[in-house]
Amino acid sequence: MKIGIGNDHVGIELKPIIKSYLEELGYEVIDFGAHSNERTDYPEYGKTVGEAVINNKVDLGILICGTGVGISIAANKVKGIRAVVCSDPYTAKLSREHNNTNVLAFGSRVIGSELAKMIVREWLEAEFEGGRHQNRINSIADIEQEYIC
Ligand code: RB5
Repeated sequence: MKIGIGNDHVGIELKPIIKSYLEELGYEVIDFGAHSNERTDYPEYGKTVGEAVINNKVDLGILICGTGVGISIAANKVKGIRAVVCSDPYTAKLSREHNNTNVLAFGSRVIGSELAKMIVREWLEAEFEGGRHQNRINSIADIEQEYIC
């Protein structure tokens, strides 16, 4: 399974830790940047990783900025993306089981690397349950159709 990873300058130190962890778990990682700690803008990376997921260049995306908020909002503007910001493993797991999230975001200023790894693992190992949850996902897609051309 391929994971696309993206970050702004604030996420630059946490990214290599997460990348190595994903590789240890057996995932292939594609790094969409940023590649330096030079100040940059998170929307670019949220969009790029979101598009990579939608275009099937990767299976799932992981995003890191200061809080995870801005970069996840940007990713969520890509049609078909369901990005979640997580600071705890429970939300990460449920976001896959119930909401079929395809992008995970977290904040390098909010959580430490060990908690980030736990969140990543719970998220990746959880599976969408379908059933009644699929109807709700379909309703979200309907809203998207209504507002995004
Ligand atoms: C950058 O200063 C910061 O705003 C960004 O990393 C992120 O936290 C935005 O949501």
